[in-house]
Amino acid sequence: MFRARIIGTGSTTPKRILTNVDLEKIVDTSDEWITRRTGIKERRIAQKGAGENAFDLAADASLKALEMAKVSPDELDLIIVGTITPDRQFPAVACLVQNKINADNANAFDISAGCSGFLYALSIAENAIAVGSCKKALVIGAERLSSVANWQDRSTCVLLGDGAGVVVLSQADDDNGILSTHLGSDGRCWELLYSEEGNPDPPKILDAFEGKPYYLAMEGNKLFKKAVRHLADVATKALEHNNLSASDIKLVVPHQANIRIIQALAEKISIPMEKVYTNIHKYGNTSSASIPIALDEANREGLLKPGDIILLVTFGAGLTWGASVVRWSLDIF
Ligand code: ACO
Repeated sequence: MFRARIIGTGSTTPKRILTNVDLEKIVDTSDEWITRRTGIKERRIAQKGAGENAFDLAADASLKALEMAKVSPDELDLIIVGTITPDRQFPAVACLVQNKINADNANAFDISAGCSGFLYALSIAENAIAVGSCKKALVIGAERLSSVANWQDRSTCVLLGDGAGVVVLSQADDDNGILSTHLGSDGRCWELLYSEEGNPDPPKILDAFEGKPYYLAMEGNKLFKKAVRHLADVATKALEHNNLSASDIKLVVPHQANIRIIQALAEKISIPMEKVYTNIHKYGNTSSASIPIALDEANREGLLKPGDIILLVTFGAGLTWGASVVRWSLDIF
């Protein structure tokens, strides 16, 4: 059995910034409410015709990650994209990325696991590397949640943003890398967050916006409580599995859904917020893309050093959740 390690990270978000003040012109809301209840100040929104499809963002982020990893696209065996907002019903976003970056030797496919898509994809790639069927993989989270936002529903549209994040995985030659991944699902609660048919027309302010014929429907209040419970439970399980305590963790990189959910998680697992990476104020909730974007930013900001123990933890539609423990081995400085 081989261990999988992260040898490159990358991320890309669309150019257009939609601030809370912009949103005040679209729905009955305020910067004060959004900031206080969610921690979000602004989000990135993809524009039609701007080369900002989910696969464009993913391909761009992939090239940055491959450059860091010093891996050429034709060395890749596997490309997996976690997404709930693929550009097309088919083919997979992963195949469109494969085509755009000329990764001709890879197998490519998407998986759908709500906001947990990235950790589910990571787990599949990790297992492929463990059994030796793959040596180098791209694991991607890529979303255009703006295309499924109901821009008339203030309780959901203020939360969502677009972007893509990527890691390059390779076989480790030592004991560093992904130490464990724990996943969970509960289909009984699917109605707390799902896609509903009939997305109404987008507002004028988003003139270059491309919507899908369905929109995201959510029971935020109930989901909030489920999110805190499952995030804390799976994080605890992951730490116990590795005989680690909270003080062993250098950095937690959680799914960025709501700053209050992240704070409640940190409190439940006794990790101070200084050890929790957040960028929700800049991007909102980018679903599958949120962890790899945050991980890339933490990495490029020099917050991760070889030997550091990192906890990745997520929760999303499905319901789905997951946690990965990583002993970091990448030194980009
Ligand atoms: N601006 C102003 N007021 C608002 C807004 C808004 N944008 N949205 C809701 N309100 C109002 C409501 O109408 C309500 O008013 P009322 O008291 O007069 O009825 C009041 O604010 C409180 O509403 P709540 O829904 O109770 O607010 P809450 O504090 O729960 O925050 C939120 C809502 C932010 C959605 C929160 O519940 C949340 O973050 N839930 C979890 C989301 C999540 O984890 N999603 C999972 C991952 S996402 C994914 O998988 C894509």
